[in-house]
Amino acid sequence: MGARELGLPEKVSTTGLPERVTIWEVGPRDGLQNEKSIVPVEVKLEFLDRLAAAGLTTLEATSFVHPKWVPQLADAEELLARLARHEGVRYPVLVPNERGLNRALDAGVEHIAIFASATETFARKNLNSTLETQFDMFEPVVSRAVAEGLEVRGYLSMCFGDPSEGAVPAKQVVEAGRRLLELGCSQLSLGDTIGVATAGQVEAVLAGFDDVGKLAVHFHDTYGQALANTLVALRCGVSTVDSSAGGLGGCPYAESATGNLATEDLVWMLDGLGIAHGANLDALVETSAWMAEKLGKPSASRVVNALAK
Ligand code: HMG
Ligand code: MG
Repeated sequence: MGARELGLPEKVSTTGLPERVTIWEVGPRDGLQNEKSIVPVEVKLEFLDRLAAAGLTTLEATSFVHPKWVPQLADAEELLARLARHEGVRYPVLVPNERGLNRALDAGVEHIAIFASATETFARKNLNSTLETQFDMFEPVVSRAVAEGLEVRGYLSMCFGDPSEGAVPAKQVVEAGRRLLELGCSQLSLGDTIGVATAGQVEAVLAGFDDVGKLAVHFHDTYGQALANTLVALRCGVSTVDSSAGGLGGCPYAESATGNLATEDLVWMLDGLGIAHGANLDALVETSAWMAEKLGKPSASRVVNALAK
C-alpha cells in the first residue's frame, strides 16, 4: 500500500500547495557529517549512486570545510574524483570560505552552498566567526563563485531556536537571510538546526520574506515537528524541501541536533497530497535500510521502518 492509493478526501484542499516539490537530499552531507564513525568513501559513493538511481535530482554530496572540524567529510576530494555523476543530477557541496571555494573549484563542482548563522553563538561555534563577520567571509566566496558560473545556495542556521540563546526573533532571521540573498545566493534554505520549530513560528518567519519562491526549508526532526512544519511551508509557497534519506543527520557543533526530516517520510506525505517529486519510495527505503545496516543502527525514519522488508 502506498500513500497515493489511500487517496485524498475531497474536502481536503490542495489550494496553495505546489504541484511539484524539489527534494534537496542532504543525507550524504548532513547525514554523514554527524556519524561517530567515518564512513568509507566506497560506501558514500554507493549511497550517492543509489540515491540518484532512486530518482532524486539534488544530492548534497559533501563539504569543503576544515578536515579537523569535520573529519567525517575529510575525503571530499577523493569522493568527487571518484563520483559517477548521473545525468540530470546536481551535486552541491558546502563551502565556508575562500579556501573551501578553491578546493571545490579544483574538484570541478558546479553548485555550492555557503552556510551562515542567524545567531551570534552559533556563528562562533560553527564558523569561528561572529554574526557580523561571517558575511565578510562569505562575500568574496559568493562573488567569485557567481563570476565562475557556479550556482550558490545560502543556508541560514538556527532560524527558530538556538541551544544557548533560546527563541530567535523572526526579525533577526529575516535580516540575516536577506543579506545572504543580497550577496548573490539564488536560494536561501532556512534551517531549524536543532529541530525545535513549530508550525506557527515557520509561518511567521516565512511571512517576513518578499520572495518565498527563493526559499527552501531545512527541518531537523528532534521534536517530531518536521513534517508539520514542512506542510505549513508548502502552504506558504515554498517548493524546495531539504531532507535526508533514512532521517540521518545533525550538526557536530549543535549538541541537541538530531536527524533531518527523513526523505521517505516526506515522500509519503507528498504522495498522499498528490504532489509530484520524482523519487521512487521503494528504492529509497531499500537504500536507507542498506545504509542503516552499514551504520549498525536502525533508521530514524518511520516510513523506512514501516516498509523495510
Ligand atoms: P578557522 O580555524 O577559523 O580557519 O575555521 P582559519 O581561516 O583561521 O584557518 C586556519 C587553518 O585552516 C589554515 O591553515 C587554513 O588554510 C585552514 P594553516 O594556514 O593554519 O595551515 N582552512 C581550511 N582547510 C581546508 N578547508 C577549508 C579551510 N578553511 C581554513 N575550508 C572554518 C573556520 C569556517 C574553516 C571552520 O570553522 C569550519 O570548517 N567550520 C565548518 C563547520 C561545519 O562544517 N559544520 C557543519 C555544517 S553546517 C550545518 O550542518 C547546518 C546546516 O545543515 C543547516 C542547518 O541544519 O541549520 C547547513
Ligand atoms: Mg542541517
